[in-house]
Amino acid sequence: MCGIVGYSGKADAAPVLLEGLARLEYRGYDSAGIAVLNCGAFSVVKRKGRVDALAEARSLPGHLGIGHTRWATHGAPCERNAHPHVYRNICIVHNGIVENARALRAECEVRGEAFASETDSEVIAHLVAFSYGQRGDLLAAVHAACQKLRGSWAIAVMCSDLPARIVCARMRSPLIVATGKEECLIASDVPAVAAPGRLVYVQEDGEYAQVDGGHVAFYDAALRPVSKRPVACDPHTDLPQKGGFTHFMAKEMSEVPQALLHSAIGEDDRQYLQLFKVLCQTQYIYIVACGTAYHSGLCAKLAFEEFARIPAEVCFASEFRYRTPIFPKNSLVIAVSQSGETADTLAAASLAKACGIRVLAVVNVPHASLTRLADHCVYTDAGREVAVAATKSFQAQLASLYSLAALAAKARGRQAPSLAGLPALARETLAVSQAVRAWTPYFVGARSVFFVGRGADYCAALEGSLKFKEITYLPSEGYPAGELKHGTLALVDASTPVVVVLTCRRLAEKTLNAVHEVSARGANVFLVTNFSCDTGGNVRAGVLLPRCEEAYSPALSVIPLQALAYYVALACGNDPDKPRNLAKSVTVE
Ligand code: M6R
Repeated sequence: MCGIVGYSGKADAAPVLLEGLARLEYRGYDSAGIAVLNCGAFSVVKRKGRVDALAEARSLPGHLGIGHTRWATHGAPCERNAHPHVYRNICIVHNGIVENARALRAECEVRGEAFASETDSEVIAHLVAFSYGQRGDLLAAVHAACQKLRGSWAIAVMCSDLPARIVCARMRSPLIVATGKEECLIASDVPAVAAPGRLVYVQEDGEYAQVDGGHVAFYDAALRPVSKRPVACDPHTDLPQKGGFTHFMAKEMSEVPQALLHSAIGEDDRQYLQLFKVLCQTQYIYIVACGTAYHSGLCAKLAFEEFARIPAEVCFASEFRYRTPIFPKNSLVIAVSQSGETADTLAAASLAKACGIRVLAVVNVPHASLTRLADHCVYTDAGREVAVAATKSFQAQLASLYSLAALAAKARGRQAPSLAGLPALARETLAVSQAVRAWTPYFVGARSVFFVGRGADYCAALEGSLKFKEITYLPSEGYPAGELKHGTLALVDASTPVVVVLTCRRLAEKTLNAVHEVSARGANVFLVTNFSCDTGGNVRAGVLLPRCEEAYSPALSVIPLQALAYYVALACGNDPDKPRNLAKSVTVE
């Protein structure tokens, strides 16, 4: 989603901004721009499309600047709507959504102010310019403008009167400040600015920061100074490399075995005892998450119930945040998120906290907002995931969540199966999954595709379907195999590819009924299984995976589904790393 970079220092700002924006490209965006201040005037270059299109801006003179990658919410993705937005002597970039933008815009228009874009963000430039005109102080003006906003924002503001100053504000959208030798950088994400020798400070909701060359000062919501400590973070944030793969998605799928290995929680882990205590007390679990993380939550629910006999409920965070949930005694909310910045997941976790419920975050990105909000945190250790379509982070979440289920089982004197063999099995699965490339012609151009299964296989089917629609742009649905005949079967005909996931042996006969039902309607059936079964010749092609513990099977069975989505996306001519309309980190509602 949108990204922010800012620079104040002795170096030329433009190359620093372009480098920072390039590091944020993985988040997904549809236009980009930078503004540099020189001799009291802003030079602004904005382009629809990729950061590369800003190359001409590299030579802009000036030591102060802000840049932005925009993921359109209000107004089409075009140059006019791209950030930065300039109004009079004020220049801003904004991440988030100003929910009351229409009303605020109307107020500005009453004053005779004209707008240059259709964005909600531009109104911030107008509000700041108005307040600055009254107060003559940029920090106070940004503060006054923020009092009028509803919604979410991370803002960086420059004023053409102030040659070294950027003022930042944050509410429900991440923002960090990095200080170096006689320079300060701001960004929406650590990788944009972290480098050896720089200190990174995380701005909290409601806080303000004022940057002047090498100096930064932080203020609370009432503009009282606050002192902050830098956070420890990996300074080696070079641009992510594809390491010989054509796409990040292919590279990240190949990293599934390591993700499984590193994300399992072992007895020697620092937080093992603390988590054990938390799970000892837990009698009810809510898992809140979005997208792929929601699917890992569905898999985990089965494991918590089966191994630990703890009732668990999985909720879309976007729904949960507006519920009035009933929390049974000793409830625990587990918030799962690769980025740790998903607005809905943060809101769901905040709701739980406000109700006095403990929150355990399962997050892949260090220092993410969710980790600071949660009472307890488990870092999945998948490494950086660049492709918008989540792959290795799904299996990493499974390894962490299955470990928690095993720990919860232990806390109740029960025993869950070991996860130790999964990484090696994942390696075997990656090898056999290459076969799905041959299935591609049956999927390209399909009107609709179904992914079906039962139990844990249904969870894998849901994730396979999400991956498929996300990067192929073909309609697909994940469905419980037993439910087809209750309505969805009406959609199946000879043009419908149906992927059946079947690793759950005890339900094999039942799942095979679905194979017969769809093939009787002429559908092409593709089977993902880990045992040989009699399909009555009704299967067009299949892939045989290594056997594993039934409850853990989605960690493997999703691999050929990820590969299928990837190959079909390539055959459709799509860029699997940057699917249209989607962003890696969904920081708005
Ligand atoms: O960063 P999060 O795990 O909170 O993101 C949640 C979803 O936005 C994410 O999983 C999304 O569904 C992926 N693009 C799916 O591949």
